[in-house]
Amino acid sequence: MDNYILAIESSCDDTSASIIRNGKIVNNIVASQDVHKIYGGVVPELASRAHQSNIVPVVELAISDAKIDKSMLSSIAFTKGPGLLGSLLVGVSFAKGMAMALDIPLISVNHMQAHILAHFINDPKPSFPFLCLTVSGGHTQIVRVDDYLKMEIIGETLDDAVGEAFDKAAKLLGLPYPGGPLIDQYAQEGDPNRFEFPDTSVPGFNYSFSGIKTAILYFLREEKSKNKNFIEENLHDICASIQKKLIDMLLQKLKKAAKKTGISQIAIAGGVSANSELRRRLTHDAKQHHWTTYIPEFQYCTDNAGMIAMAAHFKFLARDFEDLSVTPEPRMKF
Ligand code: KG4
Ligand code: ZN
Repeated sequence: MDNYILAIESSCDDTSASIIRNGKIVNNIVASQDVHKIYGGVVPELASRAHQSNIVPVVELAISDAKIDKSMLSSIAFTKGPGLLGSLLVGVSFAKGMAMALDIPLISVNHMQAHILAHFINDPKPSFPFLCLTVSGGHTQIVRVDDYLKMEIIGETLDDAVGEAFDKAAKLLGLPYPGGPLIDQYAQEGDPNRFEFPDTSVPGFNYSFSGIKTAILYFLREEKSKNKNFIEENLHDICASIQKKLIDMLLQKLKKAAKKTGISQIAIAGGVSANSELRRRLTHDAKQHHWTTYIPEFQYCTDNAGMIAMAAHFKFLARDFEDLSVTPEPRMKF
């Protein structure tokens, strides 16, 4: 008999549902929330309200698109954390209600682990152990992955996440939220060596991105005092230079971690892994360092329920089910 799991992702500002059949993703439905664009960042209360309106149609679409009836589901998976409490609550409560009504088990998934397990959706798949640079709007981590559900963070940001640095830099440039993809886009035609930004040095495999954000703020303030059209006239070069600096910082620690651990299977995951410069530079460095690299398909980089479904499949095989009294964990660790 086929095994179908419904997975729900609602940790931030994307409402998503996915059906996985016997470990293979059938679909990955994502409803993004445009409402945050004008505010320059995710507004938590608006995000939870939008999840409330989107969750039923998104789940219904995932089920009908898979050409199944909900009675055929063997379990319901959801993101338990990390994420915004109000957003997580919508997914957790919906999943609980549905699991209770259908009398099937509930599977809780860690959002950051799921970003990494997205690598098992398509071929080629990494083998263990591998290192994963997980880069999103809320996290920047270097993770040593020893098995599907056995992972250890060996380095992480001590302050801002790299996606946050991209978004905050974009905001200073007057670009709408989320600015990361726009910086990527404008950088395509810019000179990455035109402007220099300082490095913040932190020990080990850890990162710090708050310094560069402040440096960009002062740099722009200074240049605008000399030429009020500085941003408009130099947007491509500014974006390319900021992007280069952020990617340099990411790769420097990743190389250090690969060298120290002796692991040459290297993956990237999370929203910022959609960045074209990161993908290009990783492929370039891989040749030099004899790494085998794993870069996710775009739809599985940013938040999506496909990755939650993939993680749920491994938890289902391990019979790792959750109690109906479960509550969200906004600061969930591995
Ligand atoms: O994983 P994700 O969708 O949500 C979180 O869990 O945070 O990541 C969102 C982050 C945002 O900061 C967004 O600006 C960034 O990923 N992002 C990018 C690109 N696409 C998404 N940053 C740089 N270049 C991109 N192409
Ligand atoms: Zn994410």
